[in-house]
Amino acid sequence: MSNKTTYRQKAIVDYYSQENDLQLPEQTIFKILENQLPKIIMLDIGIGGGRTTLHFANLVKEYYGVDYSEEMVNACKNRFSKAPEHVSFQICDVRDMSMFKDNSFDLILFSFNGIDSISHADREKAFQEIQRIGKPGGYFCFSSHNLNCAKKIFELRSLLDGPAHKIFKKTVKWVMLNFIYNKHQEIKGLKQAKYALLNDGVHLFRIKNYYIKPREQIRNLQNGFDNIKVFSLNTGKEITTNNELETIQDSWLYYLCVFK
Ligand SMILES: C[S@@+](CC[C@H](N)C(=O)[O-])C[C@H]1O[C@@H](n2cnc3c(N)ncnc32)[C@H](O)[C@@H]1O
Repeated sequence: MSNKTTYRQKAIVDYYSQENDLQLPEQTIFKILENQLPKIIMLDIGIGGGRTTLHFANLVKEYYGVDYSEEMVNACKNRFSKAPEHVSFQICDVRDMSMFKDNSFDLILFSFNGIDSISHADREKAFQEIQRIGKPGGYFCFSSHNLNCAKKIFELRSLLDGPAHKIFKKTVKWVMLNFIYNKHQEIKGLKQAKYALLNDGVHLFRIKNYYIKPREQIRNLQNGFDNIKVFSLNTGKEITTNNELETIQDSWLYYLCVFK
């Protein structure tokens, strides 16, 4: 099953439609941008059920919410049926945003690891599209899974922490993660890898997610972006040292950067 098919399923649409709160790093980034929001034309990519719409749409000058899942877009249209005129929702895939002109947006957000749903080659296309439609000096904010923490997802030892009666279920999960939904050779090579597309068991094994080492993500961003900042999922604080970037174990991290 493709990631897109999963994101079109009712149960998944309902799941994201019930989400309301900003994650800790999103709260930090919101505070950084808050004073500028009234002047900002914002594109929110992969809006899902509209969790971030709740926080941004009424504060910005213009708000465009897009998603490649028609069902997610319809859920947002229903949830925000009384939204003011400057708020709109459309179907759009980040890999082809030809519906938007060059240099259109002051802020582009792709929250909660939406960008991790596509392959490495498609991710490059997505970044090119985002750079094309972002205004120089504007912001791009997204989160991405942290490959530093992949070891603990696939280790039997970490799955076995916890009550004894769950050991059987957890062992089955370990077998599925290591041998059925992923190639065991790839799992063994993760320590050396810079990035990997992994089935981490989320949404009942129906999603494959891209994981990347933070320093590699920063390196990839440096061509198109300045002032790249990374924020911890667990604390919401900025990560400032190379040592922390190399060792941090948070499941995903937020990146905030400025279009060149
Ligand atoms: C994990 S959900 C997050 C939803 C929402 N942003 C939130 O934070 O609650 C990821 C969303 O990204 C969307 N998405 C994934 N790949 C996409 C793509 N190539 N183009 C547009 N949207 C995409 C999915 O349909 C899904 O709604």
